[in-house]
Amino acid sequence: MNFAEELKKNFLVSAPMAGITSPPYRKLLRTFFDGIIYTEMTSVEGLKRGSPASLEFLDMIGECRPCVVQFFGGNHKSYAEAVRIAEEHAVPDGYDINMGCPVKKVLKTGGGAALLTNLAELKEIVRSLRRATEKEFSIKIRLGADEKNFVYKEVLKIAEREGANALVVHARTKRQMFTGDVNYEALAELASIAKIPIIGNGNIDSLESLERIRQTGVSGAMIARAAMRSPWIFKALSEGREPLGYLTKSGIYSLIRELYGYMLTHAGDNERKKTHYFNIIKKFSLYFSKGLQNSAEFRVRAYQKDNEKDFFGILKEYLGD
Ligand SMILES: Cc1cc2nc3c(=O)[nH]c(=O)nc-3n(C[C@H](O)[C@H](O)[C@H](O)COP(=O)(O)O)c2cc1C
Repeated sequence: MNFAEELKKNFLVSAPMAGITSPPYRKLLRTFFDGIIYTEMTSVEGLKRGSPASLEFLDMIGECRPCVVQFFGGNHKSYAEAVRIAEEHAVPDGYDINMGCPVKKVLKTGGGAALLTNLAELKEIVRSLRRATEKEFSIKIRLGADEKNFVYKEVLKIAEREGANALVVHARTKRQMFTGDVNYEALAELASIAKIPIIGNGNIDSLESLERIRQTGVSGAMIARAAMRSPWIFKALSEGREPLGYLTKSGIYSLIRELYGYMLTHAGDNERKKTHYFNIIKKFSLYFSKGLQNSAEFRVRAYQKDNEKDFFGILKEYLGD
């Protein structure tokens, strides 16, 4: 896979989201667009240990190509082995390194946004991944630890020098977490100087916000939270329509059933996974129906149901035409 070519065909990119962009969810996303889909973040140390949970993130890649596997981890020495295992398990189309995640679990590995204050290791990681694979890879960053410590231009230089093929930029700082203004000026600055594609990210949930990011001159736009609420957003935006109201209630019902079908296929006869997916489908049914009438009441009723039959009964009652 070639990032520049893919982005020319499909400007929109589906973001990595832990706990969300699981193999079945990626399959669902694929029904709405042909662009690049990222896996949820996968620990390089977990892969090395042969952790079943880490390996599971790599399942079904063949069903959502082009699919990029996102790694996290703060030790460059682990990346070559992680690539070897990923290739053996799934043959990804490309890779990404998480260099922007602000959550503790990731920071304590020295990975994610911790690398924005350790550019020496950041460079070693990019270098190691370049040596480990001929496939294209991106790195995903934030602008810096906080507004007094922007490092995005330095990171772009490292990325280009060390052979990364694209730079994904969540245009906020680590300190901002998930709120506060998206820094469009920084994206425009990067787009004007970069030799590799810049993929802009932050708050895209409508035609207007997409246009705002397009105007910065970036090569692609990555969507996360809005794709968790409305996976159909990719299709809606590409047709020049708003995601809100794009699907009817019964369309949303069918979609939830479709996603649950993919989940059950993925779970096979593993009872633990089946229970896990039942809990997850409840969550998704709430996300997808957010903003619809009486959704708060539905939420309470749905959560009381602890078996499939009752839950889908309530869901049908709520979303049926
Ligand atoms: C539930 C959730 C999980 C996320 N998991 C990851 C992850 O695994 N790797 C990553 O690089 N970013 C992760 N992110 C960050 C998103 O990819 C994205 O950069 C951020 O949410 C901003 O985009 P948005 O405004 O479109 O949501 C996650 C975000 C959310 C909400």
